[in-house]
Amino acid sequence: DYPQKRTKADTQGLNQFSIHPLARFNGPCSTYKQPVEIMSFSYDNERNLHMDDRELKYYYPPDLKDCNLSHGYETFVQREQSGPEPIHSLLDALAYSQKRSADKNLIKTDLISWRGIFTKILCTPYNRNEPWELGATLSNNTIFIEEHETEYTKEHSTGSTPRQKLMSYWGYKFENLSTISKLPSEITSSDDPELINRKNTIVNTNVQYCSVAKTSLGNNKLIMGAEIDCLCDVKPKRPKNPVEKYIELKTSKIIENEKDTFNFERYKLLKFWAQSFLIGVPKVIVGFRDDEGRVTNVQEFKTMEIPKIVKGKNGMWNATVCLNFANKFFEWLRTVIVIDDPNSSYTISFHSPFKDIKVEFMGKKNSVLAERHLESLKS
Ligand code: A3P
Ligand code: MG
Ligand code: MG
Repeated sequence: DYPQKRTKADTQGLNQFSIHPLARFNGPCSTYKQPVEIMSFSYDNERNLHMDDRELKYYYPPDLKDCNLSHGYETFVQREQSGPEPIHSLLDALAYSQKRSADKNLIKTDLISWRGIFTKILCTPYNRNEPWELGATLSNNTIFIEEHETEYTKEHSTGSTPRQKLMSYWGYKFENLSTISKLPSEITSSDDPELINRKNTIVNTNVQYCSVAKTSLGNNKLIMGAEIDCLCDVKPKRPKNPVEKYIELKTSKIIENEKDTFNFERYKLLKFWAQSFLIGVPKVIVGFRDDEGRVTNVQEFKTMEIPKIVKGKNGMWNATVCLNFANKFFEWLRTVIVIDDPNSSYTISFHSPFKDIKVEFMGKKNSVLAERHLESLKS
């Protein structure tokens, strides 16, 4: 059921996909299926992987009388990691689930990656200056995608300037100050130890709770793994779909003038929407902070309503264009990534929306799959 252009004759040399004019992505919106969680996993504070929900947290509104995001910065434990996250742990999780599932097709799909990569692709029509480069391997009819380290990502990585490191801390600190480990209904008073303790918890970016979901965009079947910040309530047991309980937390600069409004709507809301929409997270809670990192108010956004906020405004973005672009791009990708070989790779690169996206076959090197996945991922 793949497009007919998947012949060996097309496989050599460079392939290009043009983004402009964006008008060609207008029209009826491609169908995006409600993502369904197929498994979840956690990383503990030493970055060990566990196939369970031990790091799942619940949302509990932060105490705005005492919400200084710089607090505790000196004790910040930052994950040691050079470059973008490979997809190995996602593949380990998928192999683990497939082994325990009666559904032989549980992980059968067209594309597998982290949600962050799908977010980058979805936002690409409106991306002016954040180039990306991806690596891809086709194995058993599935394209596995991960991000490549480039000069650009090195320069813009988390700790590249002290200010950037502090601002990145603010995001994690906001998560700590807005979440608890027990159910919100179990909190009975404002001096509950859980609420006292969360203010002093050492921020450790190794810790994550992740959800893996299956969905499709048009005819492209997708599986993605994503970090989930917290839940609003008890997690329903699978096969009930828990994604409707998930919440994304964000921080953003307080909006003081028209320029702030424009930047928030044009850049931040696009990313907030794309990130949460892709994995089916229905709510984004934003902590607005001043230049010293003090959160003064919190605002909730329904993910599905975000595109309506910017609709028709000058110089903004259009969710339909993003989805139709991604749909066409994935369809095209599946016609040019055709050498089914777990040891080979392709490089996919984007520099600017006014230049074509390029796909180049790299031969037998830089496979996205680790040796251990070759057998374990066979369904
Ligand atoms: P903010 O988004 O509030 O700035 P996420 O929002 O995706 O759950 O990520 C949580 C926090 O991790 C972010 O909070 C930010 O502080 C930090 N973070 C995520 N991606 C980052 C990046 N590429 N560079 C620096 N910090 C990043
Ligand atoms: Mg997060
Ligand atoms: Mg977040």
